[in-house]
Amino acid sequence: APAPPVTLVIFGATGDLTRRLLVPTILNMTQGGLVSDSLQILGVGLEPGDDEMLRGKLEAFLATSNIKANYSDQTWQQLRSRIFYLQGDFTQDAIYTQIANRLAEQADRNAAYYLAVPPLFFGDIVDKLADHGLLTEADGFRRLVIEKPFGTDLASAKALNARILNRVPETQVYRVDHFLGKETVQNIMTARFANMMIESLWSNNFIDHVQITAAELVDVGTRGKFYDATGALRDMVPNHLFQLLAMVAMEPPNSFDAEAIRDEKGKVLKALRIYSAEEAEQNAARGSYTAGVSNDTAIPGYTELPDVARDSATETFVALKLFVDTWRWAGVPFYLRTGKAMTARDTEIVVTFRQVPFAQFKGKGPQRRLTPNRLIIQVQPDEGLHIEISIKSPGLSVDTVPVSLDFNYADFFDIGKLTGYESLLYDLFVGDQTLFQRADSIEAGWAAVQPFLDLWSKETKRPDPYPAGSMGPQSADMLIERDERKWHQPDVAHRVKAR
Ligand code: BG6
Repeated sequence: APAPPVTLVIFGATGDLTRRLLVPTILNMTQGGLVSDSLQILGVGLEPGDDEMLRGKLEAFLATSNIKANYSDQTWQQLRSRIFYLQGDFTQDAIYTQIANRLAEQADRNAAYYLAVPPLFFGDIVDKLADHGLLTEADGFRRLVIEKPFGTDLASAKALNARILNRVPETQVYRVDHFLGKETVQNIMTARFANMMIESLWSNNFIDHVQITAAELVDVGTRGKFYDATGALRDMVPNHLFQLLAMVAMEPPNSFDAEAIRDEKGKVLKALRIYSAEEAEQNAARGSYTAGVSNDTAIPGYTELPDVARDSATETFVALKLFVDTWRWAGVPFYLRTGKAMTARDTEIVVTFRQVPFAQFKGKGPQRRLTPNRLIIQVQPDEGLHIEISIKSPGLSVDTVPVSLDFNYADFFDIGKLTGYESLLYDLFVGDQTLFQRADSIEAGWAAVQPFLDLWSKETKRPDPYPAGSMGPQSADMLIERDERKWHQPDVAHRVKAR
């Protein structure tokens, strides 16, 4: 059913996020009948211009780019006439008066404010919206959408939460983590809580360890300015990787109510062990890529990029070994890693089960060890679920070999060309906060990575080098191999070939 009518007020309307994600998402939703016929987009930006300026820019972008949208020209024409533009400075009052006037003209008074702007403006915009009464829900809903990065460490995230919550209640705040819009991420809960076979084994009784990988093929490229001040840890771990971790490790919620789910996810993040400086040092590896070849393309080293310091100490890769200190997960390490310019694009969760207690059978290979069962949740690029089990290899001798039971989404469903923001915007319009981050979870995430931030801010040593196109520095291998475990290699064999 279509969501209720709304005016989507986008701060940063001429920016990249708006044209690359927000507008294509609204187009997909319009095409699919998921938004109201009277939805309007009210773009706000510094750039001089009028409605036609914004419409024209968007049109030009949509025509040339390879965005993930699937809509007819009629749909675009329909939306085009409902896109408006206001020019103004977010830090000044005038623009808010104009926004208020526009909203007052609407039959419905629903508004969602999307802050597609640099984080430096988040606090100011919220204060101004509140000063002008634009966050008061008198005759319609008023929701605030905040993109990442939400803070740069624990203290700044807390300060930002405090500043926002001083002006608007949590129930109106939608903090985006776009990983939660991904189909497979949402499927983690279903895979667990709709399947006795999986959930009954889901604890330290049967699980040896968990690996969460978000490997990216892309290098830092032209994003040097943002990235050199950020690094792989801040960019990916307390947000995206921890959201995956929370989905994997949470207790079953009592209902699928947003608060019930967010309570359980919050509990997991709060149970992440907070390391001392020494423990942080022992349980992390970080890297910075040097020149190399990735996907047949020559990639310059990170420190050769524009806007990156030649002696930059920013990591482009990070691997961590973490613990969730709960009854269910006691003693089970969670190994996390993410990086740029790696061998393949591969976001996956690998759950490795324990060895059988008594091995009558022998595996192949010099050590003849059995390969443990693994459950692999492939998040990207080819969404799927794989279960690795051991079978007897055909022949007269009794040798066991691992095989994989493979489920690929593409074999069963036509997911279509979606941006991954459809479920997020739909939930925003209907008022479901399940897929958005609550203040406590954000802070718990930062609290768990703060020891690493503290450690590295004092570090004089540069991150360990790894050639572009590899799976990270040797120190990352050592981090896991000293526990007699190995990183799971991106399994290209699982990939759906016909694309
Ligand atoms: C963003 C990071 O939040 O997530 C980027 O800032 C990263 O650096 C991106 O590339 C990864 O998202 P996805 O959906 O491409 O896996």
